[in-house]
Amino acid sequence: MTRVLVAYGSKRGSTAEIAGWIGDTLRGQGFETDVADAAEVRDVTAYDAVVLGGALYAGRWHKDARRFARRHAAALSGRAVWLFSSGPLDRSAQETEIPPVSQAARASAALGAREHRTFGGRLARDATGFLASAIAERTGGDYRDPDRVRAWARQVAEQVAANRAQG
Ligand SMILES: Cc1cc2nc3c(=O)[nH]c(=O)nc-3n(C[C@H](O)[C@H](O)[C@H](O)COP(=O)(O)O)c2cc1C
Repeated sequence: MTRVLVAYGSKRGSTAEIAGWIGDTLRGQGFETDVADAAEVRDVTAYDAVVLGGALYAGRWHKDARRFARRHAAALSGRAVWLFSSGPLDRSAQETEIPPVSQAARASAALGAREHRTFGGRLARDATGFLASAIAERTGGDYRDPDRVRAWARQVAEQVAANRAQG
C-alpha cells in the first residue's frame, strides 16, 4: 500500500482545508493518506511521498511548514515531495503560476521537491486582529479554487503512482 502524508502550516484554517481536499483526492486515487498539522508530525519514514503546504503571511511561509521542512530534511531526501502555498486574496493564483516566496523556494531546493504550487487563500470578512481586519475590509473573501486544488492533487497522484511503478 502506498502511503502519502499531507502536512500543513495554517493559522486560520483555510490551508488546513486545502490539505484536506488534497488528502481526499489522494485517497480517492487509492493511496492510504494522512492529513496532519505539520507541527504535530514526529516521523515521516512510514510515507512514500509527502505533500507539504503553508499559508503565506507577510511574504513568509507559515513557520510550521518551514520547521517541518528543516526537521525532516534528512528523511525527506529519500522521498518524493510536493510543496504548496496558499495566500493571495485575489484571483491571481487562478490566472498565473505564482512562484514560491523565498522561504518556500529554499525548502523546495533543500528537499528536491517535484513541484511547488501557489493557491488562492481565504480571509473571513469579519477577521479579527489589527492587520487582518484591515486586509479583510479591502480584500476579504474566499479565493480558493477546490477544482484547481483537486486537479493538482490528481497530478501528484499520477506521479506517486509512476514512482511506485519504477520501484
Ligand atoms: C496579516 C496577514 C498577512 C498576509 N500576508 C500575505 C502575503 O504576504 N501573501 C499572500 O499571498 N497572502 C497573505 N495573506 C493572506 C493569507 O495567506 C490567507 O488568508 C491564507 O488563506 C491564510 O491561510 P490560513 O487560513 O491557513 O492561515 C495575509 C493575511 C493576513 C491576515
